[in-house]
Amino acid sequence: MFERILLAVDGSEHALRAARQAADLARNMRSKELRVIVSYDTIPIYLGEPNMQIAYVNRKSEAEKILNDALKEIGEIPGKLVTNVLEGDTASRIIESAEVHKSDIIVLGSRGLGSLAGLLLGSVSQKVVAHAPCPVLIIR
Ligand SMILES: Nc1ncnc2c1ncn2[C@@H]1O[C@H](COP(=O)(O)OP(=O)(O)O)[C@@H](O)[C@H]1O
Ligand SMILES: [Mg+2]
Repeated sequence: MFERILLAVDGSEHALRAARQAADLARNMRSKELRVIVSYDTIPIYLGEPNMQIAYVNRKSEAEKILNDALKEIGEIPGKLVTNVLEGDTASRIIESAEVHKSDIIVLGSRGLGSLAGLLLGSVSQKVVAHAPCPVLIIR
């Protein structure tokens, strides 16, 4: 049923919980693929060089660390495990990725690293729920 799972992580506790749930789903469904993505904001051109390059390297390594932490939570799964680091508006990248890779379900946390108290759903989860091409599983 859920052959291709898309998991979005940002290093938050919610996202780590989402990683555990996505992995359980992959094991229970014997899914073909679990794709884990992290996106970082576009680096503004006005930073100029070498600042742009420095910012780029920093964000890449931050993204790799977030992915590695998520992979630890995921553990062993029967199918393929794929990771992607993307750049730009996070919700748009998640939705595009689900379209391109024909994901059967998107898994993400209800909240992330943002600190706007009182929000039930973060801006990324809200936008993904509103525009996703497939079912969305929001982990609280
Ligand atoms: N940069 C990102 N890359 C990948 N996934 C993300 C990113 N930011 C948020 N997410 C996903 O969306 C979930 C909700 O985060 P978000 O909507 O940004 O809430 P908040 O406003 O609290 O930061 C996170 O738990 C994570 O699964
Ligand atoms: Mg956020």
